[in-house]
This record gives sequence, structure tokens and C-alpha cells, in this order.
Amino acid sequence: MKITAYGVRPEEKLWLQQLAESAGFELVQTSAWLTADNVALAQGSCGISAFQTLPYDQAIFAQMAALQIPVLAIRNVGTDNIDLASAAHYGIQISNVPSYSPAAIAEFVVLSALELLRRVPAMTKLVAQDKLAAVQILVGRELNQQTVGVVGTGHIGLLAAKTFHNFGAKVIAFDAFPRADKPDWLSYTADLPTLLKQSQIVTLHVPGIKANDHLLNADTLKLLPQGAVVINTARGNLIDTAALYAALQSDQIGGAAIDTYEFEAQIERASEQQQPITAPYYHELAALDNVLLTPHIAYHTDVAVQNMVQGSVANILNYQSHQQLLNPVK
Ligand code: NAD
Ligand code: COI
Repeated sequence: MKITAYGVRPEEKLWLQQLAESAGFELVQTSAWLTADNVALAQGSCGISAFQTLPYDQAIFAQMAALQIPVLAIRNVGTDNIDLASAAHYGIQISNVPSYSPAAIAEFVVLSALELLRRVPAMTKLVAQDKLAAVQILVGRELNQQTVGVVGTGHIGLLAAKTFHNFGAKVIAFDAFPRADKPDWLSYTADLPTLLKQSQIVTLHVPGIKANDHLLNADTLKLLPQGAVVINTARGNLIDTAALYAALQSDQIGGAAIDTYEFEAQIERASEQQQPITAPYYHELAALDNVLLTPHIAYHTDVAVQNMVQGSVANILNYQSHQQLLNPVK
């Protein structure tokens, strides 16, 4: 039995090797992202394990079908980069790891909120320039005094909400499908505009499906109270970056933490090819004192990495032995 893993990062290797030894499968691993050009590496595999934000397209699934590889088991949550219709057309089964560590992302969200409220990006720049007197006049805000609006209360949003609540913040939420098991301290708003009007911090936790394109745009950003902070650790397409940049420039909003950025595929390709980053607004945002820009690393903890690898391999092994995925994606 053979499993081929693509997009393998150094910290994943040991976990993959341990699983191969304990479950007794042949492991082929590569740091290359999965493309139609390198599917052949997986010939003879009962499944492919992969991890990337670049697209899984029709050409990949056609190759997998030709090589009779039945399963693509991604090691992450988001499936927005998968052409699911093509996968179904070629009979390829898809699985994800739906909840490898919601706490990893939730904690990163709260960290980002605190850094923006206490003006850490501005302070860090000033300290590096020996401008300590300028640091002294930067007044922060306290998280326990803020109203936090959580958009999407699934695995990650709910935990982010709970963590904010534990800091003493007032937490409100909007979800297209509110939870029946909602905790008492959390109240849902009827719609997104109502949430935005009340949120000094807004954090996004909805999937990057087409219907959610530019949920935050010039019109919806205007609804936020002046000085509000926007946090996006979900998917880049949820925010109209041009509108966000304009809102930051005009001080209509007070800060932004962007872990998932609209033109992420462009920066990934540039980074892989060691080319300069030319993606729209990337350097402009990075230069602002009230912006935290991170390269999609909110998930990146030791717990998450281990669970991602184990979850993906478990899906392939279960399909091999029972013709059933543990976490099928339809
Ligand atoms: P989930 O599926 O558990 O929850 C998503 C929630 O969003 C659901 O409750 C759904 O009803 C709600 N929803 C969908 N569209 C909505 C809309 N337009 N308005 C209101 N609610 C809406 O998802 P999750 O596992 O919590 O993941 C949340 C996001 O985080 C996803 O975009 C995922 O891809 C992303 N993610 C990012 C990282 C990272 O490292 N930055 C890591 C993992 C997941
Ligand atoms: C996810 O698990 O969906 C993430 O966003 C993590 C990522 C680096 C792909």
C-alpha cells in the first residue's frame, strides 16, 4: 500500500514517517505542490495527501482518474480551492480535516486583536528607529471594553468568540445558520449590517465560497464604528482589499489583521519562484502602522500540524479498508 504526500513541509515529515511505520504503508513525500504535471509521482498510490492554497483543478483529477488513484485527502479545512464538480466528474473522492485545531486559529485572532488595540505594529517600528518618546504617546485600548462581532460561529468562530468572552469582551455574532447550542453569553444579530454597526472588532470565520465574495466591501465597511478593527483569518476573497485599504487610509477603520489575503495565490507563486511580490495593496498594507499582515499562518501550531497529517492519512487508510472516508467533502 502506497500513499503519496504533496506540499510536505519540514515539520510534517516526521509525523508522516511515523504513521507510515506504524500503519505499514509505503510513503512517498515531496515538498512540491500538487499539479497535473506531477500527479504521476503518485502512480500506484491508494490516495494522495496534499496541502496547498493553490487550486486543485480539473487537470489534476483527470490525471488521478487515469492513474486510478481514488482519493485526494487534503490536510487542511478549507475546500474553496478544489474544483469539486470536476472531482465528482472523474469519480475522485475528496476528504478534509475539518477541525484539526480551532484553538490555534482562535488564539491567533485574539493575539491579533490585542496587538492592534495596543498598537504593537506601530510601537515595534518606532522602537526599531530608536523613537522611544513617540512610543510613549501611543495610547492603547482594552479588549475587555470592546464589542467583538464574530461572523460565522462554526468550529473556529465559536472558539474565537469564547476566547474573546473569557477576556471580558462583549461578544455578538452573525451566522447564516445560528447554533442551537449557543452559549448564554453570546447573542446573535439578525443580519450582518446589524452586527457591523455594533462591532469595534469584527472577525471573519465563514468559508471562502463564491457567495461570500467581498462580504466586507466599501458599503459594509462604512457600517463599522470609526476606529473599528477588522480581522480576517478565514479566506482572502471575503474582503475587498481596495475598499479595506481606502478605509484604513481615511481612518474610517482603526486597523486590520490580514492573515488570509485576497491575492494570496500571487504571493505564494512569487515566494516559490523567489520573485518580488507585486500583488495589489500588499506592500501598501504592510507599510501601514495599524496593519498586521501574515502569510496564512494562523493555523500553524504543533498540535495543528500533527492533527492535519494524522487526519489526512486516516481518511486514506479508512477508504482503503472500508471504502469510506471519515471526513468526506461533497
Ligand atoms: P465551519 O464550516 O465550521 O463554520 C463556518 C460557519 O460559517 C458556519 O456556521 C456557516 O453557517 C457560517 N456561514 C457561512 N457563510 C456565511 C455567511 N455569509 N454569513 C454568516 N455565516 C456564514 O468553518 P471553520 O472550520 O470554523 O472555518 C472558518 C474559516 O476559517 C474558513 O474560511 C476556513 O477555510 C478558514 N481557516 C483558516 C485557517 C488559517 O490558518 N487562517 C485555518 C483553518 C481554517
Ligand atoms: C485551512 O486549514 O483551511 C487553512 O486555511 C490552513 C491553510 C494553510 C491552508
